[in-house]
Amino acid sequence: MQATAIAQPNIALIKYWGKRDVLRNLPAVGSISITLSTLYTEVSVELDDGLPSDILLVNGDENEAMLGRISACLDNVVGEQRPRAHVASQSNFPIAAGLASSSSAFAATTVAAAGAARRLCDTGDLARMAGSASGSAARSLYGGFAELKNAGDTINLSSLRDVDSWPLRVVVAITETACKAVGSTEAMEISRRTSPFYGSWIEQQDNDLDVARAAIAGKDFAQLATIAEHNCLKMHSVMWASRPPMVYWNSATMRCMQTVRQLQEEGCNVFFTIDAGPQVKAICLPEDEKNVVRALSETPGVQEIMTSGLGPAARLVARS
Ligand code: PMV
Repeated sequence: MQATAIAQPNIALIKYWGKRDVLRNLPAVGSISITLSTLYTEVSVELDDGLPSDILLVNGDENEAMLGRISACLDNVVGEQRPRAHVASQSNFPIAAGLASSSSAFAATTVAAAGAARRLCDTGDLARMAGSASGSAARSLYGGFAELKNAGDTINLSSLRDVDSWPLRVVVAITETACKAVGSTEAMEISRRTSPFYGSWIEQQDNDLDVARAAIAGKDFAQLATIAEHNCLKMHSVMWASRPPMVYWNSATMRCMQTVRQLQEEGCNVFFTIDAGPQVKAICLPEDEKNVVRALSETPGVQEIMTSGLGPAARLVARS
């Protein structure tokens, strides 16, 4: 029994940073994201009674490091008594480098595993299962704008806007392709235990979510820009003040932020956001994309530029 799924990574505009319950992977804060269109991960899962153990190939190479989390995700979707699986994952962008590759990888794995096992699930069920593996993956079960809530006893999502109703553009400036030093689960726990700013981060999140939700509902780009940058910089302040400190930026990250500031001063509708890695994502209106691409390409230290629109939800593409 085999199935293949495709999922696009999503980028948080209001960030998920911190867990309320590590075992069940419940977030300590709500978050709001946009799902991208041009970046994707394709995962095929083949359940095979003849296999002695699970096998994971990432971009063609056997990957031991991620195997434990992928096996746990399959146990959750298919059941612990399941046949072993051959899982092959292919992404068209750098993985584990702060480009949300875990969101697309676990979303696609969940959908492919459910397809291979012939499990009938609705989007909410799939999002809950993907979210147990990686919180941000739950959001890739939705296209366009999605919200992962910090409410109730389970992973809980809603769609805020569909993919076509506000066609923002995302320009990703890649400043480094090496894997990140500290994974997000460990980093979130270090922040919770040691950052003096963690408490106020949690306390202020509902306000940031309200402002962003209203901006998205009203297509108010300026309001969304201000709250998204503020929320991103607060998350990084929590990380920087942790012990040990977690600084995911490099000098080119900083230069890209200055480029975005300069563009804003020239009247360009653009804002930045940065996740657990050194890449800068510049979100802009379609008419400003050309200028954003040009300015970021000319920024010293930028290795590559990727552009994207908003994309669809994770989906099954083949089953046999
Ligand atoms: O879902 P995880 O464990 O990969 O954590 C995601 C953390 C951030 O990307 C930094 C923020 C977010 O909301 O996506």
